[in-house]
Amino acid sequence: MAFIINGAAGRMGRMLAEMLPAEAIAARVDPALANDPAAGTYSSLSEYDGPADALIDFSHHAATKAVLDYCLARRLPAVICTTGHDGREQAAIEEAADEIPIFQSANMSIGVAVLADLARRAAEAFPGADIEIIERHHNQKLDVPSGTALLLARRIREARPDAEFVVGRHENGKRQPREIGIHSLRYGSEVGTHEIILSTGRETLTLKHEAENRALFADGALAAARFIAGKAPGLYDMRDMLG
Ligand SMILES: NC(=O)c1ccc[n+]([C@@H]2O[C@H](COP(=O)([O-])OP(=O)(O)OC[C@H]3O[C@@H](n4cnc5c(N)ncnc54)[C@H](O)[C@@H]3O)[C@@H](O)[C@H]2O)c1
Repeated sequence: MAFIINGAAGRMGRMLAEMLPAEAIAARVDPALANDPAAGTYSSLSEYDGPADALIDFSHHAATKAVLDYCLARRLPAVICTTGHDGREQAAIEEAADEIPIFQSANMSIGVAVLADLARRAAEAFPGADIEIIERHHNQKLDVPSGTALLLARRIREARPDAEFVVGRHENGKRQPREIGIHSLRYGSEVGTHEIILSTGRETLTLKHEAENRALFADGALAAARFIAGKAPGLYDMRDMLG
């Protein structure tokens, strides 16, 4: 199998390209790369019409329309690893999944997939608990809160449909029971830590995942690309892949 890497000049795109043998890279695409077909680099998706089994997107959410238009026109499965999509971009992803297979996860790590399941179960077990999420990332990260923190909060909301997300609590006043607080720390080269605190006032449960190396996200993206190549149209995530 061979994959198009979109966002290939970025941190994740470069890591993915380093992990793959040359024959598994159909094209490396990024506006920061020279358009050089002989080297397999392209400054935009429209420059590449060669063979590919799937596209892996580690670029920027603003590229979503271009990514979807390209994959729809070529009936190409897409793995959307990029985070920070606004409502319109997310709706476009869901609409495109009617026609092509799309795998989307704000966090490609298996550990985070397990953490999300544990968080939902814990919220079910402690229906009245205060829940707070703390996420820590490097100082270059663009989206706040992290896509993973939102993924975790949404999974918790499956157990608490009336939950209200409060991002970065900053005003005076008592915490409301239905709130899920989400707090973002940005410093140094921190790869990504997510912590969920559930407290009843009598006991506190803390669930925590620490990413130690970005390669884990590239591993997950590759597994996802192999998983959706040849699948029926639809929106897939880690739950589908891990069963
Ligand atoms: N799902 C996950 O597990 C996971 C893990 C890590 C990062 N991410 C997300 O992946 C994205 C990239 O992360 P990064 O750390 O590599 O960022 P980065 O800033 O290092 O790289 C992004 C790259 O995308 C390129 N780019 C920008 N606009 C583009 C466009 N329209 N088309 C093609 N390329 C474009 C930039 O030139 C840059 O080279 C971010 O949204 C990040 O949050 C997701």
